[in-house]
Amino acid sequence: MHTYQIAASILSADFARLGEEVSTVLAAGADIIHFDVMDNHFVPNLTVGPMVCQALRNYGVTAPIDVHLMVNPVDRLIKEFAAAGATFISFHPKASTDVANSLKLIRDHGCKTALALNPDTSLSYFEKYAEQIDMLLLMSVHPGFAGQTFIPSTLDKIRHAKKFITEKKLATLIEVDGGIKIDNIGAIAKAGANVFVAGSAIFNSSNYEKTIAEFRNEISG
Ligand code: DX5
Ligand code: ZN
Repeated sequence: MHTYQIAASILSADFARLGEEVSTVLAAGADIIHFDVMDNHFVPNLTVGPMVCQALRNYGVTAPIDVHLMVNPVDRLIKEFAAAGATFISFHPKASTDVANSLKLIRDHGCKTALALNPDTSLSYFEKYAEQIDMLLLMSVHPGFAGQTFIPSTLDKIRHAKKFITEKKLATLIEVDGGIKIDNIGAIAKAGANVFVAGSAIFNSSNYEKTIAEFRNEISG
């Protein structure tokens, strides 16, 4: 397992050839498949649900699937995605009426927990529930769309989260999502992130393998 994990976001993949795209990106070196779920309510965009996650498992995908719920409410979908083969399930605290209970639901259904925080949402949500969280998902863009620009203040937020995790001797992973490119992934890694979501940077490139190799080169240096 790599110390730094590349999570390829299917949001920028060709949905007409999704199974093939996911196999190709994994063969090209991606560690995780990041699966963005949008409901046209919590965010103004609409993507895919548990059936498509299950379809990827049926297609033979064995890599971790990191389901990023940008939906409200979350609890029923947590159960459905767990049954559909999710590995990680994240949600945004404002989408749950009981954050502790939704986190418990994820673990009770055999998945790893992640809490997703928007650029303007305080780390206090993470600190409050840290013991229940396997991965902190820091949004570095406002959720809803691929291809946005990385918000630089995320770097400080990563540093603060990293400090908290170290001080409390936790094993929480820090995942960063939005606007990650070759020219900023090094700084994001240095700030303390472990898992890097990239959609457009990978799927809009002509050579996924080369792009992922360039990412690894930047974060190992
Ligand atoms: C945005 C999604 C991201 C998105 C990232 O709301 O959560 O996962 O796919 O796309 P890029 O890498 O293009 O910023
Ligand atoms: Zn995402």
